[in-house]
Amino acid sequence: MNKDEIRKNIEFESFTIEDFLKTNKWINDPEIMSRSFIRQKVSVSEQEKIFRRLSSDKSYIFHKLIFQGRFIGAIGVKKIDYINRNGEIWIYIGEKEFWGQGIGTIAIRKYSELITKNYNLHKIYATVLSDNIPSLKMFMKAGFNVEGKLLDHVFFNGEFKNIIILARIFKQD
Ligand SMILES: CC(C)(COP(=O)(O)OP(=O)(O)OC[C@H]1O[C@@H](n2cnc3c(N)ncnc32)[C@H](O)[C@@H]1OP(=O)(O)O)[C@@H](O)C(=O)NCCC(=O)NCCS
Repeated sequence: MNKDEIRKNIEFESFTIEDFLKTNKWINDPEIMSRSFIRQKVSVSEQEKIFRRLSSDKSYIFHKLIFQGRFIGAIGVKKIDYINRNGEIWIYIGEKEFWGQGIGTIAIRKYSELITKNYNLHKIYATVLSDNIPSLKMFMKAGFNVEGKLLDHVFFNGEFKNIIILARIFKQD
């Protein structure tokens, strides 16, 4: 599938609580946890609380990632700062058979364009573990530039790890 076709087949939909709870198996997947630096498994009841908290948090938006009508993952922007007009994007594709087809790259591109327009944001950034090569490649292919490296910034899985900060400016004016 070419990039235009992938883009057409990607949609973002609002979460219901039922859909959010369906993501429990994805966020507790060891590979997704380690790449997204999620430290602890999350129970379904904890996840319900998280959903209610995030749904009323104006600095946090999140959506289902849909590809060809199928719910395959989630995407969002956190720490939205309406004064400086920036926010931190995140994504995961829970259905791993969809990895490596260019969906992540195009989803990041499409979602950041949409969110910056709808929320009048100027800049979107991402924080990525320096050993998460697919994610680093994805952001760079989506037009993000490396802005810096935070050395030994997180203690994760028994070791200190570096974080790469990538960002893209979206001029709205
Ligand atoms: C990060 C993620 C969303 C990327 O989605 P994706 O649809 O697989 O990404 P793309 O297909 O657009 O690929 C991006 C690049 O990574 C490469 N890549 C994808 N999977 C890979 C793998 N398992 N190993 C090495 N490279 C990989 C792709 O080949 C591509 O690079 P290329 O163009 O040089 O070939 C997906 O891997 C994922 O959900 N990972 C777990 C959660 C995560 O890491 N989230 C980001 C946290 S910051």
